[in-house]
Amino acid sequence: MSNPSEAELIHRFKGIPFTTRSSPELLKSLDTFAAREDDVLLISYPKSGTHWLAGIITKLYNTQVILTSPIEFGDVSKLEELNKLSSRRIIPTHLDYNMLPPNFKNKKCKMIYVSRNPKDIAVSMYHYYRDNPNLPTIDTWTAFFDLFLKGDVVCGSWFDHFLSWEEHENDKNILFLFYEDMKKDLPKIVKEISLFLSLNISDNDIQDICRKSSFSEMKSDTEKENSDPSHTVCALTSNRKLIFRKGVVGDWKNHFTPKQNRRFEEIFNEKMKLSKM
Ligand code: A3P
Repeated sequence: MSNPSEAELIHRFKGIPFTTRSSPELLKSLDTFAAREDDVLLISYPKSGTHWLAGIITKLYNTQVILTSPIEFGDVSKLEELNKLSSRRIIPTHLDYNMLPPNFKNKKCKMIYVSRNPKDIAVSMYHYYRDNPNLPTIDTWTAFFDLFLKGDVVCGSWFDHFLSWEEHENDKNILFLFYEDMKKDLPKIVKEISLFLSLNISDNDIQDICRKSSFSEMKSDTEKENSDPSHTVCALTSNRKLIFRKGVVGDWKNHFTPKQNRRFEEIFNEKMKLSKM
């Protein structure tokens, strides 16, 4: 069987590429979504550590919470499904700030944005594209590198996504996190998340959560299918096994040529000149 064509897999909404797993009708209806004050949003550009953070957040609650699939994933019945949930909802999303349903902003829902070195994101996304039948076929790293810099990949430009959220980094209801800080001192970040969510967690519990959230534990849980194999917080796959690849900082050095690195830095410096990153 031949691979599905790009047009069968990707469509654009407001100029941003989405997979056809996010229906245009759903994307159009997001503006009407009824948020609840106790919703917690988990926001990221793909491959920034979304699953890692989701694993941590769900372990922090000792009351019943439900980790939903991404708000932009599915067809128009999705909003109704989310409406029916009675527990507190932890809702992941890869939407940029401008596309986020306005009700979340009006209700000042708590939002956690996780970011990562975009060079590592590009590499992680490249492997994800190669292994994921829901995404267009990519022939070479060089070809993917160009698409990533142009923002011609699912969820659009990393630069635009990050900048749209960074503008709100001082909003009291938004916590900004970095993958690299999580790798460096996870207990510190877990404490920060628990304070932000107003959860009282003992140091022992924090240590326990960190142990259970290590890359090797999460990967082996997935392999043993201790977690629901069809539940992922990524709108781009339902195969959890694609998520846990290497889990390291700096893998970009194994992929970028010196010339690609110079080009990336040039574009980064230009696009991010007003950013604090
Ligand atoms: P790599 O492809 O670089 O290994 P997302 O969940 O946003 O799709 O991000 C996936 C990336 O996060 C993958 O990066 C994956 O390996 C990494 N990751 C997932 N769980 C992790 C964990 N517990 N610790 C460190 N990295 C993790």
